[in-house]
Amino acid sequence: MSNLNIVILAAGKGTRMYSNKPKVLHEIGGKPILAHVIACAKALKPQKIIVVYGFGGETVREAFAHEDIIWVNQAEQLGTGHAVQQAVSHLDADAKTLILLGDVPLVSAGACKKLTEQAKNKLAIQSFNKAYPTGYGRIVRNNKLVTAIVEHKDATEAQRKITEVNTGIMAMPNAYLTKWLSQLTNKNAQGEYYLTDIVELAVKDKVEVVAELTEDEWSVTGINSKVDLAQIEREHQTHIAQTLMQQGVTLKDPARLDVRGNLSAGRDVEIDVNCLFEGDVILGDNVKIAANCVIKNAVIAKDTQILPFTHIDDAKIGENSRIGPYARLRPGTTLAAETHIGNFVELKNAQVDIGSKINHLSYVGDTTVGKNVNIGAGTITCNYDGANKFRTVIEDEAFIGSDTQLIAPVTVGKGATIAAGSTITKDAPADALTFCRAKEQKSIVGWKRPTKLKK
Ligand code: UD1
Ligand code: CA
Repeated sequence: MSNLNIVILAAGKGTRMYSNKPKVLHEIGGKPILAHVIACAKALKPQKIIVVYGFGGETVREAFAHEDIIWVNQAEQLGTGHAVQQAVSHLDADAKTLILLGDVPLVSAGACKKLTEQAKNKLAIQSFNKAYPTGYGRIVRNNKLVTAIVEHKDATEAQRKITEVNTGIMAMPNAYLTKWLSQLTNKNAQGEYYLTDIVELAVKDKVEVVAELTEDEWSVTGINSKVDLAQIEREHQTHIAQTLMQQGVTLKDPARLDVRGNLSAGRDVEIDVNCLFEGDVILGDNVKIAANCVIKNAVIAKDTQILPFTHIDDAKIGENSRIGPYARLRPGTTLAAETHIGNFVELKNAQVDIGSKINHLSYVGDTTVGKNVNIGAGTITCNYDGANKFRTVIEDEAFIGSDTQLIAPVTVGKGATIAAGSTITKDAPADALTFCRAKEQKSIVGWKRPTKLKK
């Protein structure tokens, strides 16, 4: 929106979080609370976003160093009006200002846009109805017209019965705002400069005040405690789950899904219970994710099944593959189509080509695996000599017998077979059988197991 300034108030201490971390850096959906407010502000395309910070200031600024934000320090928290006063020198004379609160993460860009549009020559306030309004500023109306906002501690018994309360979100032309801010006093029950006093100043100046009631309580609910944090997190997750289901994703239980980042899914995707998605995850058509998987920054192509208790971190998986149960794919892993990775298999920086199988109890790291390779149970690529890492190459159609150690750097040629129990230290030629075991198998007839010594 042209001619829009947005001021985000985020200087509060957050005492009730009982944390050394600034309140606005606690996370909802894997992102700081304040990041959600900034995202809403950016969606409105303002000329300027000004954040008023205070407590824990430098860490807050550092967390958003990449954002185009004007930071204003409120060294002492003398009230919401005082907070906005700190931003006055940055406000554009011919613009409007929208005030947002740094601890209200589910704020709706759509509602803010409507409110800001209303604020043409008016003071527009977002209000909502609260059955138990203790602590909130009450919206006082004379007939329909808003005449004041009275803070709970300053309110009369009659005013305390009002259930329409101030959300703290408001918009007005800057010419008025700057004038009213200069007239605020702190003669009230809390000795603070209340931003809400601008309502009475508007009335005095014959500027119309409108309060826009919202039904969407979560979109105006602030976070003050860890209880609030958990409730808002659930609300946010419920919203994500509903959006996914509306797009056609089958969720076995929408209450047992967590998305901390961006999850995008094709058609006929199914997700079983207790799965966690982090960062950017893309699921192709017909992908099935079984219960209890943790999947971070991954691309999973169509028709692939991820079986229970699988962990995937920074990996790509080709179509029609089967991963898990209990598989772990670590960063840099790419699997082509039709691959099978089974239980207790750990892959790290491994590139596995079409149709290859690593089905049981293996560690394959820094390895290139060709097409249609079969890696037997208990195979280990020894990629680390204690100081440096080396690569293993296993060419197409190779067969690695169970309990093999491949000491990198080493290459197993095309079509080679490695006998079970081998420790391979030199390249194994193509199409040959290579084994490296103790020379002979011995038996000692009549050998007795040791018995416990008598004391
Ligand atoms: C404020 C409103 C109240 C409204 C309520 C909604 C005032 C005087 N009262 O009350 O009408 O119903 O919010 O939650 O505005 N902040 C600063 N600097 C300060 C004080 C506050 O940046 O000096 C920030 C806080 O970080 C927070 C926001 O302003 O994001 C609101 O402050 P808070 O102390 O929660 O205001 P309330 O007294 O609860
Ligand atoms: Ca508050």
